Amino acid sequence: MSCILVTGGAGYIGSHICKALSQKGYLPITIDNLSLGHEWAVKWGPLFKGDCGNPILLEEILNQYPILGVIHLAAFSNVRESQHLPLNYYQNNVQTTLNLLEVLKKHHISHFVFSSTCAVYGIPKKIPIDESHPKCPINPYGESKWMVEKILESMSSAYGMNVAILRYFNAAGADPDGEIGEAHHPETHLIPLLIQTATRERPSFTLYGEDHPTEDGTAVRDFIHVTDLAEAHVRALEFLIEKKESLTLNLGTGIGYSVREMIEAIEKRWECNIPVIKGERFSGDPPTLVANGEKGRKSLNWTPQYSDLETIIDTAWNWHTAKVPLYK
Ligand SMILES: NC(=O)c1ccc[n+]([C@@H]2O[C@H](COP(=O)([O-])OP(=O)(O)OC[C@H]3O[C@@H](n4cnc5c(N)ncnc54)[C@H](O)[C@@H]3O)[C@@H](O)[C@H]2O)c1
Repeated sequence: MSCILVTGGAGYIGSHICKALSQKGYLPITIDNLSLGHEWAVKWGPLFKGDCGNPILLEEILNQYPILGVIHLAAFSNVRESQHLPLNYYQNNVQTTLNLLEVLKKHHISHFVFSSTCAVYGIPKKIPIDESHPKCPINPYGESKWMVEKILESMSSAYGMNVAILRYFNAAGADPDGEIGEAHHPETHLIPLLIQTATRERPSFTLYGEDHPTEDGTAVRDFIHVTDLAEAHVRALEFLIEKKESLTLNLGTGIGYSVREMIEAIEKRWECNIPVIKGERFSGDPPTLVANGEKGRKSLNWTPQYSDLETIIDTAWNWHTAKVPLYK
C-alpha cells in the first residue's frame, strides 16, 4: 500500500483528505501537533503527534514508512489573528515548511501537494480570480502562504520536486457520512458560527462589515465542499505521480454567496432566526473572493459533487448537531 504523509491530518480539511486517500487505497500517515486538530479525527491511518518541522520525528516516520508523497496542510490560518501575531504565522507557516522540505529533500521525496489559499491574491482586481491574477496578499497569513509558494517553485526548479499548489477558496460542509466535520476552537468560520447561533449555542452572530462594495454590502465568498476539496487533493497527487510535472490551481466553484445570503439560507432551511450584531469591517478582509476554477476542473478532470449550497449547509448542520459533545 502506498503511504502518503499528511501534515495537519487531524484538522478539518486534512481529516477529510485522509478519508479520501484511504478510499483510494493509500495509507495516510498523519503528523499533527494537535495545536488545532483533534485525535478523534484521525481514523484512517497512524497519527504521529508532534511538530511537522521537527526533523527527528520526521526521520522516524520516513524510516518507518516508504512515503510516496506529502500533502502539507499544517499551518495557522486565522486571517485576523495573523495581523496581531505575524511572527507566529511566519514561524509556523514558513519556517516549519522549510524544516519539513529539508528532510524531504534528504529522503528524495519528489511529490508534494501544498495547501495554499485565495488570500495570496489580496484585494482582487478582477472577479472571478484566475491563477494568473497578481499576488498581493494583504495580511501576514496570505503573505506566509505566498512565501511558501515561492520556496516550492525554487525547490521544483532546483531539485525536480513535483509540486501541486492548491489555492482554495472557502472550505465548507462536512463528510456526507457524518464521520468527521469542522470543529475549530475558537470557531471563526462562517457556516459553523451561523449554525451555532441557529442552535442557540451562541447568543448572536457578529456580522463584520455591511459596507463592502457588494450588492447587499456584506462580503461575498466562494464555498467549496470539503469532500470535493479532498477528492481534488488525491487527484492532484496522482497527477504529480503520473505526469511528473508541477501545477498551480484554484479550487473553487465560481459561485459567490454573500454573508447575508448565507444567513438567510440557514434561517429558511431550518425555519429559525439568527440574531445578528453589527461589527466593524476589518482591513484584511477583501469584499469579494470568487474563483475561476476552470483550470482546476480541467487539469484534474474533477467536478465538484457536493458544493451546491444545500448540500454544504445540510452536511455541516448534520455533523454539528450530531457531534455537539465533541465541541465541549
Ligand atoms: N479552511 C479553509 O477554508 C481554508 C482555505 C484556504 C486554505 N486553507 C489551508 O488549508 C489548511 C488546513 O486548513 P483547516 O481549515 O483544515 O485548518 P485546521 O486548523 O483545522 O487544520 C490545521 C492542522 O494543522 C495542525 N498544525 C498546525 N501547525 C502545525 C505544526 N507546526 N505541526 C503539526 N501540525 C500542525 C493543527 O493542529 C491542525 O490539525 C491550512 O494550511 C489552511 O491555511 C484552509
